[in-house]
Amino acid sequence: MRQLIAGNWKMNGLAGDTAAICGPLRTGADGLACDLLVCPPFTRIVTAANILVGSAVAVGGQDCHVNEKGAHTGDISAAMLADAGATWVILGHSERRADHGESDALIQAKTKAAVATGLSPIVCVGETEAQRVAGDQNKIVGGQLAGSLPEGFAGVVAYEPVWAIGTGKTATEADVAAMHLFIRETLVKQLGDAGNKVRILYGGSVRPANASTLLAVPHVGGALVGGAALNAADFLGIAKAAKA
Ligand code: 13P
Repeated sequence: MRQLIAGNWKMNGLAGDTAAICGPLRTGADGLACDLLVCPPFTRIVTAANILVGSAVAVGGQDCHVNEKGAHTGDISAAMLADAGATWVILGHSERRADHGESDALIQAKTKAAVATGLSPIVCVGETEAQRVAGDQNKIVGGQLAGSLPEGFAGVVAYEPVWAIGTGKTATEADVAAMHLFIRETLVKQLGDAGNKVRILYGGSVRPANASTLLAVPHVGGALVGGAALNAADFLGIAKAAKA
């Protein structure tokens, strides 16, 4: 299974940034051993999709609504993402869980909506620092997987420990190995054999300097990259560390 290197731009990326990042990715992605995805803010999905059309780099959104259309001021539907040129969507990121109070049930409904529209979902899970200190990480992540993934899920899961996001603190290889194995076993229990086919991304302060180590850990199917995805050379540096 090819690894997936996905860039989550979060609330970053004006027109100039989008061109500066996506331009070099268009050519830099040729011949890579991994799949590459950029997830700009809603306002620049069309821009990114236009720059990357016909290239090996896919475009995704960072959230979608459960409904296809209607009276939901400020929201964006999966159909709108697809219409703008996205083929992927990140759902249930810890920042959305925290900033917007998103529950597992809501994330499951959004995942169903995304899949029904033909988008590939990346569903995020991960414990906070306090939860890890208390030794509750498996209970938390297990609960998130049980609550957020719909029956028959065939998308991607991203494990992002909240304490490693944007902090420069990366989980140790041993932490990543233990959690990814736990997630794999949970997915198989939940989904049967299909659980073996789900790529499990690691996210949290992934950089070119630590990418080869993290991407070599068993059951790591790629990376979900925040800060380092805002620079084409760094993002490509991570992608070059990916395994086929
Ligand atoms: P950083 O790579 O900036 O730590 O962000 C990780 C993340 O939250 C990606 O979704």
